[in-house]
Amino acid sequence: AEPRALPRDLEGVRVAISAGGTREPLDPVRYLGNRSSGKQGYALARVAAQRGAEVTLVAGHTVELPEPAGVTVVKVSTAEELRVAMHEAAKPAEIVVMAAAVADFRPANVSGAKIKKSDDQPDPVIMLDRNADILAELVTDRAPGQIVVGFAAETGDEHGSVLDHARAKLRRKGCDLLVVNAVGDGKAFEVEDNAGWLLASDGTERPIPFGSKAQLGVAVWDAVVGLLKR
Ligand code: CTP
Ligand code: CA
Repeated sequence: AEPRALPRDLEGVRVAISAGGTREPLDPVRYLGNRSSGKQGYALARVAAQRGAEVTLVAGHTVELPEPAGVTVVKVSTAEELRVAMHEAAKPAEIVVMAAAVADFRPANVSGAKIKKSDDQPDPVIMLDRNADILAELVTDRAPGQIVVGFAAETGDEHGSVLDHARAKLRRKGCDLLVVNAVGDGKAFEVEDNAGWLLASDGTERPIPFGSKAQLGVAVWDAVVGLLKR
């Protein structure tokens, strides 16, 4: 099908988006990271810019991606760097989107020298400290009227379905919209296409049809524009 022509319905609207994964150092050469490609956040930034938004993209680690045209890109590595950059980018923004895969924990101790193995010493144990929940902070700090969008990649388990977990996360985070990706079976991580739901704090739940990350981006911005109009 022909891609739909994009409306200029975000003209002049300031948007802050995070994308990609964070890396938490263990020593000068090692880190704890994740498999986020950054493609979803970049697609969101590209679509927003095409619809007229002034976009700041706070980018963690990603696969090789072209910089979206007309977007200000701020590169970060750790969750703490992403946190500082997102608070800065969110200040003037009407819309804030947390699409990054932020590490929940960081090594409690970062070795200044490369960690060595030794036959006389026990193997090391990595202790972890909790990172700040950036999305929850952005929700707490937001100016009246600012729209905050979160992402969740969920699997169903013995405690509930993908949607059960997602509804609980939306309530817990307090954001206006939660974009839910159903993961497992190779979906969402390192793939071009993903499907899910858009959950809104007013209880609205819309399925997102299987399509490209650009199409998901269009669905997210359609929902945000709907909120902006109210
Ligand atoms: N997020 C964040 N800061 C963190 C962790 C997550 O801002 N330290 C954001 C993500 O960018 C995403 C949303 O919170 O928009 C949900 O992330 P997710 O990992 O699904 O939620 P968590 O609260 O970390 O819960 P879980 O235990 O399921 O990982
Ligand atoms: Ca998490």
